[in-house]
Amino acid sequence: MAKTYKVGVIGVGGIANTHFPGWKESPHTEVVALSDIDDATLQRVGEQTGATRLYTKAADLIADADVDIVDICTPNAFHTPLAVAALEAGKHVLCEKPLAPTPADIKKMIAARDKSGKLLMTAQHFRFQDRSRALKAEVDKGVLGDIYHARSWMLRRCLTPLRPGFYLKKLSNGGPCIDIGVHILDLTLWMMGNPKPVAVSGITQDKLVKQPGAFSMWGGEIPKEFDVEEMAAAFVRFDNGATLMLEVSWQLHHDTMGEDMQMWLYGDKAGAHWPENAIVTSLNDTQQLTKTVLQKAQGREPHAEECIVFADCVANDKPSPVPAEQSMDVIAILNGLYQSSEKKKEVTLKY
Ligand SMILES: NC(=O)c1ccc[n+]([C@@H]2O[C@H](COP(=O)([O-])OP(=O)(O)OC[C@H]3O[C@@H](n4cnc5c(N)ncnc54)[C@H](O)[C@@H]3O)[C@@H](O)[C@H]2O)c1
Repeated sequence: MAKTYKVGVIGVGGIANTHFPGWKESPHTEVVALSDIDDATLQRVGEQTGATRLYTKAADLIADADVDIVDICTPNAFHTPLAVAALEAGKHVLCEKPLAPTPADIKKMIAARDKSGKLLMTAQHFRFQDRSRALKAEVDKGVLGDIYHARSWMLRRCLTPLRPGFYLKKLSNGGPCIDIGVHILDLTLWMMGNPKPVAVSGITQDKLVKQPGAFSMWGGEIPKEFDVEEMAAAFVRFDNGATLMLEVSWQLHHDTMGEDMQMWLYGDKAGAHWPENAIVTSLNDTQQLTKTVLQKAQGREPHAEECIVFADCVANDKPSPVPAEQSMDVIAILNGLYQSSEKKKEVTLKY
């Protein structure tokens, strides 16, 4: 039986491949159209997915009256113009992270969303991971009490992505902050209950990529055109008095071969660690230390799951599970970090 909602995917290079299984598994959606400026990629993915409406111009996919949902998987710089055009054409939009490189861009997307009445969601797949959901359920039950401090980091040692969409500022607007900082920051803010960020103090570094022979395990030498940060750290204040310490890197002399991604949440009743999903307390009445590890849940691959959830929201008129307003907070913090690093002082966030 034909499914109700037809999906068009724009930018079918890397990450789009993790979305296709979700669109296929959803009872509501099927992928009918693809767009990529690289014709060879477009034809190859067309054959792999069975989608037959293939466009080298994204505008033609957006103009396709048969497409109901547009899934944007291009480099960051194209997210805003494509999402705004798709919303104006009356399509629902799932957009890869970062939703856009600046708060001003996200404002344009929110305005287009509100005018169209369609759904807009950022593809923050870590929210759809089984263990994230399990910990969030405990947090929402109040197990940690008031979360007044958090620490989170996403550190890579020698893993700079070597595609220009990542290391050229004009295409990405930033390095690991914008690429992977958005993952751990979105997850941390979500766990904290999305308090409003009000101030940031941060630094960025590019000490290692400038050294002769600097390399990435993903393909060798760092291109000399590399013009974003390789590492950053920040201290963030929120309107409810809570604070957060954040660290991200693509290049850092840190003892990890892959990715060291962790988060600590500190509440007035208990603390929690992700991804171990441990809850720790100190019991005053018995003067004991306790640690409970949540049972491991078995969930779907999270990129596929986010597409399935998005399709369900479209089909059943539910609100966006990753609202653009929450992505705006993430990007405002990261843009604030860049400004603070330049000014060498804490900056107040106004957006
Ligand atoms: N959620 C995640 O885990 C995750 C992981 C990697 C990348 N991403 C995000 O996905 C996006 C794409 O990253 P990627 O790794 O797939 O990059 P990629 O370079 O592998 O693929 C991007 C594709 O978009 C095409 N493209 C570029 N401009 C286009 C345009 N104007 N119209 C149509 N096609 C265009 C390119 O030809 C390429 O095939 C980025 O925003 C990135 O941040 C998310």
